[in-house]
Amino acid sequence: MTDAPDLFAPDLHRSLQDPVLGSISFLTEVMDRYPDAISFAPGAPYPDFVQGLDLGGLTDRFLAHLRTDRGLGPCRAERVLYEYGPAQGLINDLVAEALRADQGIDAAPDEIVITVGAQEAMLLTLRALYRDGRDVLAVADPCFPGIVGAARLLDIPVADVREGAAGLDLDHLAARCRQARAAGRRVRACYVAPDFSNPGGVSMPLEARHRLLALAAREDLLLIEDNAYAFTAPEDDALPGLKALDTGRRVVHLGTFAKVGFPGARVGYAVADQRVQHAAGERPLAGELAGLKTMVTVNTPPLSQAVIGGLLLEHGHSLTALARRKAERYRYNLACLTDALERHLGHGMPPGVAWRRPAGGFFARIDLPVPADSALLEVSASEYGVLWTPMRQFSLTDRGDRQIRLSCSYLEPERIETGVQRLAAFLRKEATG
Ligand SMILES: Cc1ncc(COP(=O)(O)O)c(C=O)c1O
Repeated sequence: MTDAPDLFAPDLHRSLQDPVLGSISFLTEVMDRYPDAISFAPGAPYPDFVQGLDLGGLTDRFLAHLRTDRGLGPCRAERVLYEYGPAQGLINDLVAEALRADQGIDAAPDEIVITVGAQEAMLLTLRALYRDGRDVLAVADPCFPGIVGAARLLDIPVADVREGAAGLDLDHLAARCRQARAAGRRVRACYVAPDFSNPGGVSMPLEARHRLLALAAREDLLLIEDNAYAFTAPEDDALPGLKALDTGRRVVHLGTFAKVGFPGARVGYAVADQRVQHAAGERPLAGELAGLKTMVTVNTPPLSQAVIGGLLLEHGHSLTALARRKAERYRYNLACLTDALERHLGHGMPPGVAWRRPAGGFFARIDLPVPADSALLEVSASEYGVLWTPMRQFSLTDRGDRQIRLSCSYLEPERIETGVQRLAAFLRKEATG
């Protein structure tokens, strides 16, 4: 008997063949093979921020809140942790208060759904908004792979929209809308990160945010805002996010506690206040997302929500102070990175190598005069002991082919310095077009 394979990859869903699904494991695999290399690849949290958290204390804090503020008896309060919970979430009221205090977003608890990370919020939002193959998702390009991956899982067609130094190119988005219409389709929504995008590291000026909202109203599309890195803005430079500016319910706002809290909690949320008409009345889109969630993760683990709820309570219903402390460290690391690049590459920089100093976020981008592909990464890792992310992993086009992304969020300054020395040697030798 021959050993026939049980399954053939082409018989499985086509998203499994999509390179976007391999983008994270590719980097983990390279990092595993070169454990001594300094890696500028992951946007991981600074280690001090993810150790020694009193998870038990935070959970107790939330339980006390259930007893005192929500009037549950001690047994019922504790059972909340052990049982399934409401699909829409347990901590919506606390998140609503924090959104108001921290981001100027005015949302009622029932306009929020608590999700397993922002990633699940992306999947649910896309599933709800996309009716059939005529609906297109526009994304800023280069783009966070999580949203493109979610679209691939759902067979949603994706159109790239250029991202420049001032963020999303609005003329290009308008052109994409026209093209979709001419082809009998419509751009249903556009994914955008107005503050320190990942991987581009760019932010939209205030006036462009207003223009984007006006464009969304004109073209009748929704904006899916992901502001994971907005908290890293310098205090006097922080701009209101799209949802805070949204007066026409054009924005579905996705959030995460992965950065200001910690990623292992896997808690995020969607603010979806759009009114959905049913024969029996209307309800917020967040309620529809919760309906979908019952068939995806049922509910976000109550234990995780309790810890994040405890964190919100512990900090007086606002994470601004905590976010500022963390942002300082991330901006400091970014300054170490760009200062080191300046010192080690500023003079005698190979022609065609260029970078910009981001004001916040986790990422800096370097333009190279040569293709930044996996072969070049292999050389960088094996011969120079330094790792980075090829930007082509984040692009639907060839825009990222000659760019690399650097992150230093989790590195100590000495490692950043050594890493940049190695990177400079690598770039001088290998990035000569
Ligand atoms: C742009 C962006 N959105 C969202 C997230 C966080 O997603 P989650 O809450 O699923 O961890 C990240 C994390 O890397 C990110 O870079």
